Amino acid sequence: MKQLWIRVVCGLMCVYFLAGLALRGQQAPAGKPFDLIEWNGGKFIYGADYYPEAWDESQWEKDATLMQAAGINFVRMGEFAWAKMEPQEGHFDFAWLDRALKVLNAHGIRAVLGTPTASPPAWLYAKYPDIAAMDEKGVRYRYGSRRNYCVHNSDFLAATTRIVTAMAEHFKDHPGVIGWQIDNEVGGPKCFDPASRAAFQAWCQRKYHTLDALNAAWGTIFWGHTYHDWQEIPLPWNTLYDTHNPSLALDFDRFQSDSMHTYVDVQVAILRKIGSHQAITHNEMGMYSEIDYYDLNRSLDFVAWDNYPMGKEDYSHYARQALAHDLMRGSKDNQNFMIMEQEGGLPGWAAFQGRQAPAALYRVWAYQSVAHGADGVCYFRWRTSRYGTEQYWEGILDQDSYRNSRYFMVARTGKELGQLTPLLHGSKVVSPVAMLVSPDSRWAQQIQPGVEDFQYERLMHDYYDAFRRLGVSVDVAFPPSDLSAYRIIVAPALCVTDQNLVNKLTAYVKNGGTLILTFRSGVKDEDNVVTESTLPGPFAEIAGVAIHEFDPQINEEQEVLGPGESSFPARTWSDILDPTTAKVVATYGKGYYAGKPAVTENSTGKGWVYYVGTESKSPFFYDRMIALAAKKSLVALNQKIPTGVEVAVRQKAGKKIVFVLNYTGTEQTVPLDIAYQNALTGKTEPMDAQIPAYEVKILTER
Ligand code: GAL
Repeated sequence: MKQLWIRVVCGLMCVYFLAGLALRGQQAPAGKPFDLIEWNGGKFIYGADYYPEAWDESQWEKDATLMQAAGINFVRMGEFAWAKMEPQEGHFDFAWLDRALKVLNAHGIRAVLGTPTASPPAWLYAKYPDIAAMDEKGVRYRYGSRRNYCVHNSDFLAATTRIVTAMAEHFKDHPGVIGWQIDNEVGGPKCFDPASRAAFQAWCQRKYHTLDALNAAWGTIFWGHTYHDWQEIPLPWNTLYDTHNPSLALDFDRFQSDSMHTYVDVQVAILRKIGSHQAITHNEMGMYSEIDYYDLNRSLDFVAWDNYPMGKEDYSHYARQALAHDLMRGSKDNQNFMIMEQEGGLPGWAAFQGRQAPAALYRVWAYQSVAHGADGVCYFRWRTSRYGTEQYWEGILDQDSYRNSRYFMVARTGKELGQLTPLLHGSKVVSPVAMLVSPDSRWAQQIQPGVEDFQYERLMHDYYDAFRRLGVSVDVAFPPSDLSAYRIIVAPALCVTDQNLVNKLTAYVKNGGTLILTFRSGVKDEDNVVTESTLPGPFAEIAGVAIHEFDPQINEEQEVLGPGESSFPARTWSDILDPTTAKVVATYGKGYYAGKPAVTENSTGKGWVYYVGTESKSPFFYDRMIALAAKKSLVALNQKIPTGVEVAVRQKAGKKIVFVLNYTGTEQTVPLDIAYQNALTGKTEPMDAQIPAYEVKILTER
């Protein structure tokens, strides 16, 4: 009877999956902000990703004791344990997880359980080989890694339904399980098999209704690629010199993002239907571009993401993580979030990636998460694996369980966060400026960058890093976000727009906002088709410029004179601006268009639009641009923050909580606006705050 019922649910879920692709965007907007600290029983979430299935049970009690001593009150478990939970099709074993939960709960540690679909069992692949995704060349992925399933495969959807249903039924009322993580880092690989192709064709049919509408939207007259039957529509392939129809390719990217969202929604719906009232989240990937996270997060209670700051770079480049935090916060209207995987040791798979950082720096990175709005920090992972691909990806402890310097760092931070919880609870990041990230523009420019050196993320960082150098908090807005409260919005390479977004930005400026637009703005409509208007198309009027000529920069030979007296190297692109109503702020320095405008400023309504026709590798160029815009919009700047030091602020009841984070190996002096009180020591700090190497100070207004 139960089996029959599960089959009925599986069938319904497959139908739901297909229908869900059409329903995207119709879900209710998020209600009251989710309070993570309240959810965790009033405690700041402090945790570790734990894999009890990989260790002898005799180890669990020792682990829980050590965790509790380090202030850990949270674990995430289970996300790769499908094979242990369902060792044979339809036979479940959760007893081991019950026992692990019992041990952990007894030490005051609550859990989020991962639905284990990222790593399907070997028997499932053996029985249903087509659950594996197919690559562009038509080759199916082999079993042995993870996340290589195809979400359009009905057997995989049925198996997903079965395991999630069984888990939900077993744990929905468990007092020690406070939430669910759906799958693990959903995203690629894209699947190019016949089932995916049929799903894409159905998606197109739901979107366009008629082939005439699709042919018109995609401009299939080009090369005579006109479709006469939905089944003729192919899946795209793309290389820089062999691009498929860019309109089709953009819809395919949207379809992919939608498909992953729908797969997450299938699981959310099962959990809810079975009566789980536990919170639901997913561990996301910061700047990862394949998913429209704003869209994905509509179905989730709160944002969680996986934060790995350590790369081969200089540690003082803190802005890479800072932007990722801000984007993740922005993907759910700036609600506080949590880190589901915070770097807890040196990363590496086949080889360690780079050199070991001092343990103190892991603490600074954890506080960076908090400073950007995290109300929870969960380290990846409790202990380094003895087995498999991640033997060289360190956890807090190494395989020998010795209490190393990272453990003591974690314990120190845990104690401090306990002390800081009343202060942090209810505080959030409030920013006067926002970067507008457009998933459509990002995808469109991945399909056709326009010039090889174009990098959307780099262009975001050009501006973002300048704000941070100047001590300004930054939000990341998505096209549906409320933009009205920002004094400055930077919209990098807003290539693909629709009328709603154009209207929204126009109204924003007319009402007094300052908008910074860059080259490649307003080039295309929402179908990824080039506008017939003179560039910057729908923004020409508010920017007060026309672009009749441009010059893609291949060898980075251009220079830009201004703002001010200085000259800066220019790269990537040069829009040669023809001001209609705008004032010239900077000109080009070289070649046949030397002296022509490169940057303009236009007063429109009550606001201002800057149009920046090129990119520079000089940070000073961006400092100048931000200073200009900040002056117009009365945004305060701190010009004296040393390199490698970040000043980030949360606010509560109008008062600031200032995090001063020193990522460098030397003591630094940071001039602040007032004398703050140190939240940990209670002492008053001088206005010239001294921050030792790899240290953080958390300061409050008295
Ligand atoms: C994350 C993933 C974890 C682990 C970690 C280190 O992306 O979610 O499961 O694999 O990377 O490789």
